[in-house]
Amino acid sequence: MPTIADRYTPGDSRHLVGGGPIASLEAHLCEAVGMRHAVCVANGTLGLMGAAMAMDLADREVVVPALAHAASVAGLLQLGARLRVADVDPDTLTLDVAAARRVVTTKTEAVLAVDLFGTPSNTASVRALADERGLLYLADAAQALGATTGSTHASSAADAVVLSFTTGKALDLGEGGAVLTNRRDIYERVVWHTQHPYRQRRDLGLHLVNPFAINMRMHPATADLATRELSGMQKRIAVHRETVARARRIVEASGLGLCLPIGVTSML
Ligand SMILES: Cc1ncc(COP(=O)(O)O)c(C=O)c1O
Repeated sequence: MPTIADRYTPGDSRHLVGGGPIASLEAHLCEAVGMRHAVCVANGTLGLMGAAMAMDLADREVVVPALAHAASVAGLLQLGARLRVADVDPDTLTLDVAAARRVVTTKTEAVLAVDLFGTPSNTASVRALADERGLLYLADAAQALGATTGSTHASSAADAVVLSFTTGKALDLGEGGAVLTNRRDIYERVVWHTQHPYRQRRDLGLHLVNPFAINMRMHPATADLATRELSGMQKRIAVHRETVARARRIVEASGLGLCLPIGVTSML
């Protein structure tokens, strides 16, 4: 089996322009999640920060769920965003949209929903709240690649969706992440803030690039590794679904009235 070292040829600079294995993984992710644009990044934490930068959330007010991964909000905190914390739904452990609505103020710019443990947020309700109050909708789907709500991928109704490919995730590349969006303007701003000027020039057709972008690029060998791991990802998702289904049967048979924070819709 080729090692990670075999997957990188020194001097190969295709990743600087977002080409080669990066372009190929981004195309796979767009198809898997059903969204138009993807940008590979070094990890999910930076993906969330890059998405927040692209959404102009520095120093802005953002509604976030009370239960999340610390990394869900690390980038927002670094950017000086002011967090308004809303409770989660006890059945799904994802954002309680009624609670979120109660903490939205006239200064709120965005809402962050986190698909914790692979359980999709109530994406239609989050989308409705965002549309009603003119908010941006950022989804942390780091734990939810492969999760679905009806026939669509979890949280694909968000303005930006962030994935993680860290060890233990459905697509396990050791490290890695991606930002997906249907909005061309957000895609362009993610590239502008996080990618090499070569890619900014190529993707955005710019003469004046942002040389001060923070380097959040994915290593090309990581993207190349993904071409092999994509089939493993499908297997991992299938095993997880089966494990969750078994756990639900055991809990239901126990008669203890326990609530599993999983299985409200299809899940990772
Ligand atoms: C919900 C959630 N958000 C964000 C992250 C951060 O992703 P990464 O470890 O790729 O930086 C993780 C990682 O475990 C996560 O589970």
